[in-house]
Order: sequence, then structure tokens, then C-alpha cells
Amino acid sequence: MSSQDASAPSSPNGAPESPAKADAKRTASARRMIREIVASFDSLVTRLYSKIRFTILRQPFLDEIGQYLPKKGRILDLGCGFGLFSLYFAALEKERDFIGIDLNAKRIEQANRSAEKLGLTNVRYQAMDVLDWSSDDTFDAIYFLDLVHHLPADFVPEFLQKVRKLVRPGGILIIKDVADKPYFKMLFTLILDRLMVGMEPIRYWPPSELQSLVEAQGFKVVRHKMIDILPYPHILYVARLPEE
Ligand SMILES: C[S@@+](CC[C@H](N)C(=O)[O-])C[C@H]1O[C@@H](n2cnc3c(N)ncnc32)[C@H](O)[C@@H]1O
Repeated sequence: MSSQDASAPSSPNGAPESPAKADAKRTASARRMIREIVASFDSLVTRLYSKIRFTILRQPFLDEIGQYLPKKGRILDLGCGFGLFSLYFAALEKERDFIGIDLNAKRIEQANRSAEKLGLTNVRYQAMDVLDWSSDDTFDAIYFLDLVHHLPADFVPEFLQKVRKLVRPGGILIIKDVADKPYFKMLFTLILDRLMVGMEPIRYWPPSELQSLVEAQGFKVVRHKMIDILPYPHILYVARLPEE
């Protein structure tokens, strides 16, 4: 996969590159990467879905989330779906070592096939319920994007307790989820979610409630809205564990 050319610090004639030019190159490289990831999916429906998903979580959001991920180390993507974002973050930095987990075996098969097609050896995927998955290893970073509202609400405190044990001391947990307010934004998201998952239970957590649950596990949490052109009530929770 073509990826790293955008980080070159100087122009071909050796003169230092202007920040604007370097930014433009980085953006072009990121766009190319996203095109390659989308093209790696076998079915037209998945290619369409992933295009839409990359439009919802578009470049500023990827940069926003990506800035918190270490440039090297072990990273866990829970509820990874087709692996869109771990494929992207793995392609950006080859010293990141990713594991993605999702309940949906077909999505996981596709994610592993895409990683292979893209020549990414630093990411692998396993089909499993995140509520059952465990590991003896700890991770430098764990994230889950739009997973929590799909989990049975009663299991979320226990799930977060388990996640806490998987984050190394000083490590980071990033959660992107959907708030319960404002009402019209919540309703907009609910309609789209219902189209995807039918009548499966969904709970959009009040942000203060979800934040308290994460804090109860010993994380220091900062949360903020991520403003979208579309009316999604996105919330990003950035949670850090103290060093031991
Ligand atoms: C809205 S999709 C988000 C996928 C991906 N994180 C993304 O941002 O594109 C939610 C994903 O969570 C997965 N999921 C829901 N409940 C799960 C569970 N208990 N264990 C593992 N994955 C789960 C679904 O299969 C689905 O792929």
C-alpha cells in the first residue's frame, strides 16, 4: 500500500518544504490510502458502506482520533466492523501492531482479506463477542468507535472493567459514541442505525453517565463533541490511565 510519502520533510531539490505544502501532501496521501482501503473490499455493498462510513468519520475526525494513538505499540480496535479504521491507522504507521475484534464473522473475514490485499502485516482480526474476548497481554491503546450503543446496556460497566485490565498503565482508551441529545440529532442517528441493525437494542448513553463509568475504572477522562456537517451527536471520550 502506498502510504508514507507524505511525511517527507523536504522538497525534491532539498529545500525545506512549507507547512502548507506538507499538509497538502499528507492530505493527498491519506485520501489515496482511503481509496485503496475502500477498493480492497470485495463486494460493491461493502465498498459503498465503507465510503459512507469514511464520509461520516471523515479526515478531520480521523486526524482527531489518530493523534491520540501511539506511533508504535499494541493497539486494540473493539467492534472493528470491516476494519476500516484499523486498516487506515495501521497503514499510516507500520510500527503499530493492531488487533481488531468484531462479532460479525463475515466482516472479520473481509477485514483479514483486505489487510492481506493491502500488504499490511501489522493488523489482524478475530471474530468474537467483545464481552467474551480476553487477552493476557496489555495494550498501549484501545479504541471503540460506535460500539457502546450496540452493547446490552447492563453489560457496559462490566465490559469497561474488562477493558481497563487490558490497557497498560499510562495507556489510553478512546471511545467515540453517540449522545442521547439533542433529540433531533439522536433521532437522525437512530433512524440510520435502525436501517443497519433492525430492532436490536440500542442505547445512546448520556455522555456524563458514560464518562462516570469510565472514570470509575480509574481513567482520567476528557470528552468533547465532534461537530459534523450531518446532524450526528458524536462524542469523543479520551481516557488515560495513570502510570503505576
Ligand atoms: C456501527 S458498527 C462500527 C464498526 C466500526 N467500529 C466502524 O467505526 O466502522 C458497530 C460494530 O460493532 C459490532 N458489535 C456489536 N456488538 C458487538 C459485540 N458484542 N462484540 C463484538 N462486536 C460487536 C458490530 O458487529 C458492528 O460491526
